[in-house]
Amino acid sequence: MKILITGAKGQVGTELVTEAKQRGHDVYGFGSRELDISNLEQVNTIVRNIKPNVIINAAAYTAVDNAETEHEQAYAVNSLGSKNLAISCKELDIPLMHISTDYIYDGEKPSPYLESDPPNPTGIYGASKLEGDQKIEQIWPKHIILRVSWVFGNHGNNFVKTMLRLAEQRDELSIVDDQFGAPTSAKAISTCLLDILEAKQFNQPQYPWGVYNFQSDPGVSWYNFAQEIFQQAKESGLINKTMQLNPIPSSEFPTPVKRPANSKLDGHKLLKSLHLKPADWKSDLNNMLTNIK
Ligand SMILES: NC(=O)c1ccc[n+]([C@@H]2O[C@H](COP(=O)([O-])OP(=O)(O)OC[C@H]3O[C@@H](n4cnc5c(N)ncnc54)[C@H](OP(=O)(O)O)[C@@H]3O)[C@@H](O)[C@H]2O)c1
Repeated sequence: MKILITGAKGQVGTELVTEAKQRGHDVYGFGSRELDISNLEQVNTIVRNIKPNVIINAAAYTAVDNAETEHEQAYAVNSLGSKNLAISCKELDIPLMHISTDYIYDGEKPSPYLESDPPNPTGIYGASKLEGDQKIEQIWPKHIILRVSWVFGNHGNNFVKTMLRLAEQRDELSIVDDQFGAPTSAKAISTCLLDILEAKQFNQPQYPWGVYNFQSDPGVSWYNFAQEIFQQAKESGLINKTMQLNPIPSSEFPTPVKRPANSKLDGHKLLKSLHLKPADWKSDLNNMLTNIK
């Protein structure tokens, strides 16, 4: 399949390009410098020229706290960029696969979020991502919006890399223990998206387009996640000390944007409609640490 991937140099984009090539697809990956999704003319020119069978949008403005002072940039990429890709996909009558976030929710729900739960973002990043999801839904029905949380992987910045860096400088860390979610590897997201588009029924009449949560198991707090990172890092010989971890409430680690207390996503719809199981983040973490080593 001829696949055009935007945001190809990000955490998820890099995995997507690598894995799609390994699976034998004809891959056209673009970083932000080669294809700025907020520029409709550029999007149209490149898409019309390549004529892909599907576009996967891994591009986004992801600086959650900076978005509070950079509204325009966040909306340009996350809302207008998504809209532009939907317009372009509609013109060519090709599916658009897009990635959404747990940050469209306020995190007040006590149980895992369903795709049908009402969104209520607490910051500009979440609001701009939500607007992008809505634009796609309004413009082009042939879409898969995969909603994910707490992404980590070998490429780019993420919590795992921050923990490993801090372990080089300190022996003791205080980590938030009242925000719960599910770490999800960029690799698992890439595998899920490619499994979706390689399935026999993909893009057939009556295909169940729409929003799908991609669940990862088990759910944990950031403190539990850090415990697992350091345990695995020690077992694999990546670090040679036992980190002293102290659980703290979010109130002791203030951030410009309030993070959702509950980021857990319910993955039953993906399992029932598209037969895809939740990811196992502990084993993905193990693979990541092995790669780093
Ligand atoms: N990271 C998380 O924890 C998390 C959680 C939930 C959902 N998500 C979602 O998952 C998706 C992938 O996230 P990620 O973690 O892979 O993000 P990432 O590492 O920040 O990658 C995003 C990529 O988008 C590119 N980009 C920015 N503006 C662009 C533009 N105008 N045109 C084209 N490309 C542009 C960036 O390129 P430059 O670096 O050159 O700007 C970057 O390479 C996003 O939709 C994100 O909202 C992420």
